[in-house]
Amino acid sequence: MLDPSTAAYVRTLLPRSAAKYWMQRYSLFSRFDNFVQLDTEGWWSVTPEVLAAHQASRSRELCARGLVAMDACCGCGGNVIQMAGVFPVVIGVEISPKRVEMARHNSSVYDVAHKCQFLCADFFKVAPGLKVDALFMSPPWGGPKYQHVNTFDVFYPLVGFNKSLLRLLDVTLDCDGVVAAFLPRNTDLVQLAAVVPEHAVWEVERAYVNNKLKGITLYCHPGRTPDQPNVRLEADAEYMAQGAHMESSAG
Ligand SMILES: C[S@@+](CC[C@H](N)C(=O)[O-])C[C@H]1O[C@@H](n2cnc3c(N)ncnc32)[C@H](O)[C@@H]1O
Repeated sequence: MLDPSTAAYVRTLLPRSAAKYWMQRYSLFSRFDNFVQLDTEGWWSVTPEVLAAHQASRSRELCARGLVAMDACCGCGGNVIQMAGVFPVVIGVEISPKRVEMARHNSSVYDVAHKCQFLCADFFKVAPGLKVDALFMSPPWGGPKYQHVNTFDVFYPLVGFNKSLLRLLDVTLDCDGVVAAFLPRNTDLVQLAAVVPEHAVWEVERAYVNNKLKGITLYCHPGRTPDQPNVRLEADAEYMAQGAHMESSAG
């Protein structure tokens, strides 16, 4: 943390919105000075390092087998880097070619490039049939504007994603592993409880960094062993129909 007079000085040099993130640079990346790369969206969307490390180790704890992990929307690599600390193989999927290159570069700053693979793709094209031990995602929340609405509606399409959180969870829970989703702090937990399939085992953590509530992390896994039938399939028809209705009426 900067002392108040230095912070005030930085604010005179940079636009207010940029100064806020610059002052947090070491909490985003402790190795920031080793030429970490970020673009504008990367600055405001990266998960703070201490939180990314916690999300990685909590996912690992919940995994039966911790070999392959994936970040579905890896941005500039904040979560991928920390996942590589606890998983031997981490795949980062990212739709922006520029951010894929930044994530790759940043993984080498943290000496974990050898454990990371990057795929420039739309996660929804990668998702069908995906099997990984742990799947993390911090989907786009719609930029800093998400803070100005009372509740973050899980049925509403995520900005720039064209899919709701409901749809995203529906796709990801098929991966059979642990799914962790970092979501806005104003996510409607009652809605969330309603969209997580009944049989799934799940927990929600409030994530504080420097005493500030940064968001919530939902951890979820299908709650069945591989030899058990996928009870979810039976529930899917009704659940999907309801989801589709809610999504279109919200839009
Ligand atoms: C909140 S950021 C992720 C930040 C990342 N967890 C980190 O700590 O650096 C969300 C990212 O999702 C990417 N994204 C958006 N739509 C996507 C899609 N359909 N498939 C994959 N990535 C996507 C955005 O380009 C953005 O970089």
